[in-house]
Amino acid sequence: MSVPIIIDCDPGHDDAIAILLAAGDPAIDLLAITTVAGNQVVEKTTLNARRICTAAAITDVPIAAGCARPLVGTRYVAADVHGDSGMDGPSFGEPTVSAVSEHAVDLMYRLLTGHPEPVVLVPTAPLTNIALLLIRYPEVTRHIREIVLMGGSTERGNRTPAAEFNMYADPEAADIVFRSGLPLTMCGLNVTHQALATPDVLARFEGLGTELGGICVELMTYFGATYRKLWGFDAPPLHDPVAVARVIDAAIVHCAEASVAVELRGQHTRGATVVDLHRHPDRPVNAQVALSLDRERFWDRIVTAVGRLGERADRADRAPRADP
Ligand code: BDR
Ligand code: CA
Repeated sequence: MSVPIIIDCDPGHDDAIAILLAAGDPAIDLLAITTVAGNQVVEKTTLNARRICTAAAITDVPIAAGCARPLVGTRYVAADVHGDSGMDGPSFGEPTVSAVSEHAVDLMYRLLTGHPEPVVLVPTAPLTNIALLLIRYPEVTRHIREIVLMGGSTERGNRTPAAEFNMYADPEAADIVFRSGLPLTMCGLNVTHQALATPDVLARFEGLGTELGGICVELMTYFGATYRKLWGFDAPPLHDPVAVARVIDAAIVHCAEASVAVELRGQHTRGATVVDLHRHPDRPVNAQVALSLDRERFWDRIVTAVGRLGERADRADRAPRADP
């Protein structure tokens, strides 16, 4: 039985690979892709979702745009990491997959309440849409099986020394989600930095021999260059697919129970996730926190999913078209 999920994302190089993993792995039933402002403005992240779905011939999953700015404060994009388009590197043509006109939050609500079983939400972006969903439709929680998100860290941040980007971009939304009482899994930087797209990984994508495999190499090459320049990494960490992998097979991402709070006020620490792994009785557990990754199984799932989608997309490209 595949697990029904909705990805809420801001593509984003690593979001794009998360979408491919979710759409290409049989353990997942991808109900929708919703977008939000994050790595770039929401118009661009939505266009990028359409671009990667067009490239992978993902034509049966609705894409809906959501919030254009955080709940509080000003919008902050990550053009230094993801480029002006939000997904610089490959050159994409005009996408043929379109977005629906319904707002992301309304689409989520409709799909969640209409689905026969509770659905897993997989946010890989600032949590604005998810917080708004919980505020606008409080009764929706009984239709949510779990939230498995990429964001935060048990250690230091990346956008500031203390805060990870998805938390920093909308701390108030993150606070609402972490205090929602819903089952929650946090895949933070401490584990996503174990998901490095090293040269052997790029060679596996290249070896698929598909156009989509080539696009993945271009995405990771661009991402690798910015990670080298900004943080001195030898290879780029593919953060967002870690959350999808956790849903596919819990054994890929080892977690421990913890209490997690989001810092809202600190002058230098706003958006930091304050994680207590010691289970102090004063701080009740509100999350599963990812600690380690089975890298081999992680990359096997991604390469297999991209291979499956890429072959299907190439076949669709070669299929004779009916005369107009
Ligand atoms: C997170 O921020 C974004 O830049 C990535 O897409 C990922 O979701 C990593 O901090
Ligand atoms: Ca992201």
